[in-house]
Amino acid sequence: MKIAVLPGDGIGPEIINEAVAVLHAIGKRFGHSFDTQSYFFGGAAIDKFGVPFPDETLKAVQEADAVLLGAVGGPKWDAVDHSIRPETGLLAIRKKLGLYANLRPAKCYSILADASTLKRDVIDGVDLIVVRELTGGIYFGQPRGISTIDGGGERGVNTEVYTTPEIVRIAKVAFDLARKRRKKVMSVDKANVLESSALWRKVVIEVHKDYPDIALSHLYVDNCSMQLIRDPKQFDVIVTTNIFGDILSDEAAMLTGSIGMLPSASVGANQRGLFEPIHGSAPDIAGKDIANPIATILSVGMMINLNFGLKKEAEAIETAVMKVLEEGYRTGDIYSEGTVRIGTKEMGQRIAKKILEKVV
Ligand code: IPM
Ligand code: MN
Repeated sequence: MKIAVLPGDGIGPEIINEAVAVLHAIGKRFGHSFDTQSYFFGGAAIDKFGVPFPDETLKAVQEADAVLLGAVGGPKWDAVDHSIRPETGLLAIRKKLGLYANLRPAKCYSILADASTLKRDVIDGVDLIVVRELTGGIYFGQPRGISTIDGGGERGVNTEVYTTPEIVRIAKVAFDLARKRRKKVMSVDKANVLESSALWRKVVIEVHKDYPDIALSHLYVDNCSMQLIRDPKQFDVIVTTNIFGDILSDEAAMLTGSIGMLPSASVGANQRGLFEPIHGSAPDIAGKDIANPIATILSVGMMINLNFGLKKEAEAIETAVMKVLEEGYRTGDIYSEGTVRIGTKEMGQRIAKKILEKVV
């Protein structure tokens, strides 16, 4: 199994190191061989090649069976031209690989509930997943750009656009996923104002006719953002557009205690998916051995499960993570009184050790 590894920027390389070590621990324990080659991506690629997504990296990800990504971006590249920002590379890789569905689970681990800023009884038991459309909407719509206007000043424009086929395929992903869960789908839009959302809702209702066993409801995005904080346990699968999914998944992350715990998968037309933590490159804590590698380690779990069908191996990763947390070890972001604060490396090593010792 060939995995293209893109460590990226900031804490990316540190957390990826631990995730790759855990992957190889799984390989050793269960007798699989994972080929993990690293490539330049994001700011690191801008420094070396002048672009965030160099041809060499494009070729590597197209030839790989799966892609494992750390994080991209940072203040160092804030001043570069918009067209070559590290984030542009991220959008390009999603588009090039046809990764139209971004799966972002938010599960609250009971033993971490006190690390959240929200009350335990509101979040303990949260288990939802945001299915975010990833290759359409305002992130890619035309026209876009900044132009000058008569009389001085400029005009910035982006376009929210969705077509029937784009909505059909993401709705199917959500309904299929709900079948393996609690059979509830909440579609989120702004159909009271936006035509693109009115179409979204109409098509989701149409696709739902093939899924009579699934309960479908709809919420406007403003209401959904409120409901997520008021009563997050009402949600199972949330399906929404690219930009609403971007925003709501960050909000959902806070229901779990820490964004440092959340993995994600981007999948699409073919078998090859991209797996990455939900959090960013956190340049302020980069290189200090304090970042939480668990989101990236759990992303490896999603990768071997969804991409390679290795279910028991993926479970071993989750259980190893749980065991280390139960023993009281915490990185700074999930630390609370009475637990033991450890660094990025030690967290990764303890998880890998649990897997190798067959404790899980
Ligand atoms: C995310 C990020 C990206 C996005 C940025 C870095 C382009 O926020 O993956 O959620 O907006 O999609
Ligand atoms: Mn985001």
